[in-house]
Amino acid sequence: MGDKKRFETRAIHAGNKPDESTGAVSPPIHFTSTYQQESVGQHKGFDYSRAANPTRQRYEENLASLEGGKYGIAFASGMAATTALFQTLEQGDHVIIGRNVYGGTYRMAVEILSNHGFQFDFVDTRYLNQIEDAIQPNTKWIFVETPTNPLLELCDIKSTAKLCQTHGIKLAVDNTFMSPYGQNPLALDATLVLHSATKFIGGHSDVIGGALITNEKDLADQLYFIQKSAGAVPSPFDCWMLLRSTKTMALRVQKQSDNALDLAHRLESNSQIRSMRYPGLKSHPQHDLVKKQQLNPEGIPIFGSIISFELESVNARDQFLSKIKLFTLAESLGGVESLVCIPYEMTHGSVPPVMKKKMGLSKKLIRLSVGIEHVDDLYDDITQSLFH
Ligand SMILES: Cc1ncc(COP(=O)(O)O)c(C=O)c1O
Repeated sequence: MGDKKRFETRAIHAGNKPDESTGAVSPPIHFTSTYQQESVGQHKGFDYSRAANPTRQRYEENLASLEGGKYGIAFASGMAATTALFQTLEQGDHVIIGRNVYGGTYRMAVEILSNHGFQFDFVDTRYLNQIEDAIQPNTKWIFVETPTNPLLELCDIKSTAKLCQTHGIKLAVDNTFMSPYGQNPLALDATLVLHSATKFIGGHSDVIGGALITNEKDLADQLYFIQKSAGAVPSPFDCWMLLRSTKTMALRVQKQSDNALDLAHRLESNSQIRSMRYPGLKSHPQHDLVKKQQLNPEGIPIFGSIISFELESVNARDQFLSKIKLFTLAESLGGVESLVCIPYEMTHGSVPPVMKKKMGLSKKLIRLSVGIEHVDDLYDDITQSLFH
């Protein structure tokens, strides 16, 4: 599928050609672990499903196309994708990593990978000088999440990529929060994009998945080798679910973002809501960067579906949670159904309190993941749940 076609068209057609043998418009799910060989080593390009599976290849082609990349490598979860990325490191290598990354990424780096001889430095990636100051001769990757979870702080991808090029370092961007519809880090010169496909790519809170996308052939080859060697691959069924989901990504993600912007505008002036953070508000300290970096395929700024704010106290927070109905208290985000979570205890439960304090993450902080329900119903649900 030529990448000249627009996002919505690629979403439907890339990797989705009708089945050659039957003409089935919906691609078949290749439920097979192994493949017939005509003679030893003679086969149709597939020998074992950990190494390659036709349904997975369709999904990888689709995702790569949506991110504007050449190579897509699918994993069983976002964390499996993160692990594979760091398995490209050698002992003694150093990584600069955003201090506000997802709690599971922090846990993986600090509690597992540091024991294997890799070094991690956590920095505030809003500031290019802090990234630059952390560079060492053995720095191999800079790993950023933008916007961050749940404080919605941005890293300037293009400037960071330029810095990386000057120092011969690779830049990985966790693009989970924006999805390929809302931000394309490869177009801003990042080396690699990471997704928890569990979020906007799946979009229905029913599948766990992860993916890496790059334009660099050597890196892609290394990652395909890690994928088949370590074996954290998604099942053919999960690949099919995800391939099906990306067809509606443009509609879902735009609607979720439109709903969130509307809610943020309406709630901003509510006297019970404090420290509201939403990239679409003029009050967001990096609003100008947001408008430059987070663009939908029409080039129009898009602000995402996550809103974070604080209430007066932990008691007010708990009252709110006990009253809210349409927002389900649950981890995760990016699905068509609205969710609410308390990052301090939930997504960031494994991050030490001292680190959370440093990040500005308080127990009073509430994170909403806005879905595609009618925005008026969502607004009514939030306001009737606030402490009166
Ligand atoms: C930004 C971000 N990256 C990575 C992950 C990990 O993905 P998964 O849960 O699919 O392993 C998450 C999970 O919440 C996330 O929010």
